[in-house]
Amino acid sequence: MDVVRRAEVITVFTGAGMSAESGVATFRDVETGLWERFDPTQIATPQAWASDPGLVWAWYQWRARVVHAAAPNPGHNALAHLERTHSVLIATQNVDDLHERAGSSTVSHLHGSLFAPRCSNCGRPYHGVDAQPEHAVHELRVEPPACPTCLSPIRPGVVWFGEGLPDDAWRSAESAFTFADVVLVVGTSGGVYPAAALPERAAARGIPVIEFNPEPSALSAMASHSIRTPAGISLPALVDALDSAA
Ligand code: APR
Ligand code: ZN
Repeated sequence: MDVVRRAEVITVFTGAGMSAESGVATFRDVETGLWERFDPTQIATPQAWASDPGLVWAWYQWRARVVHAAAPNPGHNALAHLERTHSVLIATQNVDDLHERAGSSTVSHLHGSLFAPRCSNCGRPYHGVDAQPEHAVHELRVEPPACPTCLSPIRPGVVWFGEGLPDDAWRSAESAFTFADVVLVVGTSGGVYPAAALPERAAARGIPVIEFNPEPSALSAMASHSIRTPAGISLPALVDALDSAA
């Protein structure tokens, strides 16, 4: 792990596996039954939003509540701890807020966030109480709130397949990879573009890439090391090794 110890800037590319050990709690109540029968790939789409915004809005509000009830895992906490000795720039494909809640200060959400609803027309961010995770509604359909500026429906702040990535998140992620001395790829199958192009480009420039994933992924071939244990174990072990080498 000398390449990490010697690095000034550590860029971390994370996917769903980063949050796997946070055991995203599901509600043990009617709400879980309410939603289990829906296929996310059928709901999390521009087509579903166009045909049934009330269902899509209610589903995302449920997802936000489920994530809100979860906690950062030791892997999230280890990345936050690394900031004491390194500049740690995180580019995540995840729409949860677990990196931030663990204390990481520089996180780019390449696929948006459950906690950043915005106007579907003018793009204005929406902070209404009816969009907060605590605002529990156990309905199958909830009409999305109206934008205070233009009265258009507020939409979930996530990127649906076929949509472009948020410019600001993409630019800050590109910069994170430009300045990287080492790239950690954590918990991603690495098959979704353009996000997956970021670690690929870094590897092509000769930046060392270390993969943290119990399984091989589409990014394994470019990794100089692959740590085949869960991130909630391997990232704290990395931090412990760096702390004891300090
Ligand atoms: N620690 C590390 N990696 C893990 C763990 C863990 N505890 N558990 C699972 N993994 C790995 C799996 O082996 C898999 O390679 O995490 C990866 C998860 O892959 P995906 O489910 O494909 O998630 P992700 O790579 O984030 O998907 C990318 O695709 O679904 C769209 O937009 C969505 O952002 C998502 C994108
Ligand atoms: Zn608006």
